[in-house]
Amino acid sequence: MPPLSEKFPWSCLPIGSDVYSRAMSHIVQERSIRGNILDGAALSKTIIEEIKGKLDRIRASGKPAPGLAVILAGDNPASAAYVGAKQRACEKAGFFSLLERLPETVAESELLGLIARLNSDPKIHGILVQLPLPAKIDSARVMQAIDPLKDVDGFHPVNVGKLTLGEDGLAPCTAVGCIEILKRYNIPIKGKKALVLGRSNIVGKPTSMLLLKENATVTMAHSQTLNLADEVRSADILVAAIGKPEFVKGNWIKESAVVIDVGISSVPNPAKPGHNRLVGDVEFLLARERAGWITPVPGGVGPMTIAMLLQNTLKAWNQIVAKNESPQ
Ligand code: GUN
Repeated sequence: MPPLSEKFPWSCLPIGSDVYSRAMSHIVQERSIRGNILDGAALSKTIIEEIKGKLDRIRASGKPAPGLAVILAGDNPASAAYVGAKQRACEKAGFFSLLERLPETVAESELLGLIARLNSDPKIHGILVQLPLPAKIDSARVMQAIDPLKDVDGFHPVNVGKLTLGEDGLAPCTAVGCIEILKRYNIPIKGKKALVLGRSNIVGKPTSMLLLKENATVTMAHSQTLNLADEVRSADILVAAIGKPEFVKGNWIKESAVVIDVGISSVPNPAKPGHNRLVGDVEFLLARERAGWITPVPGGVGPMTIAMLLQNTLKAWNQIVAKNESPQ
């Protein structure tokens, strides 16, 4: 007979403790599932397959494959892991891919020199400088050095301006990924009340602009917002991007709302003492009881960001080919 703790791992937790009640609440909630899952992992695979097909046709027509250069300065392990995932997806889809690794001590002038070379390299159509950069480097100056046509992150002021004006350009991958999930699942956006939680340049601001372009009524909330729970309660679409684990409580979610959770944090796992688990900005199980649709963490927005990087690189290739083919 196996010990009780093997069959019921929570039985070894002290009854009445915080960890015990959290573990129990997860067990109870697992039985009252409701919202449909927005499966970003599966969707990203479909999109990457579609892109691969387009790249096969480009090569078959005798043209060179689109190329992406990724610059990683320093040895931040999380950045190295993200860059690795981006590169693997890139190579799988058939892009020409280049990784430029620079030491933490790299001079800004050296980084700017590398970007200048990549700007004029005909094999490269997309340039991504992984953030954060080493502290002594001016990130804004680095972003501005990238040719806006090759700016697959959509961080250059020209692309930020185009996004704000509602013009076609390159928009930040995570923001595009959030909208792509909604569109691919045929979730209506027009006229809906959308709340974007978080005002970062990478996610919150561009996602708000893209939702506005889709004719949502957009509210941006942040750390200084008063009555945040009430704002969430009235949102048909919630995009949570604040990087605070399970900050948005399940009972704040409007009935049948669509929840896009951009956050990803590693926290202690109450059901497996000594282990961690990944959670988003939203209390997933409780929110799912009320939501109509919800992204899981992991497996929601994260894989979509990578798929959108490939989509942006292909878009950059198209922009550059069109520019080179048009009469000067
Ligand atoms: N660091 C975290 N997210 C991103 C991103 O989307 N692009 C880049 N370049 N760096 C990041």
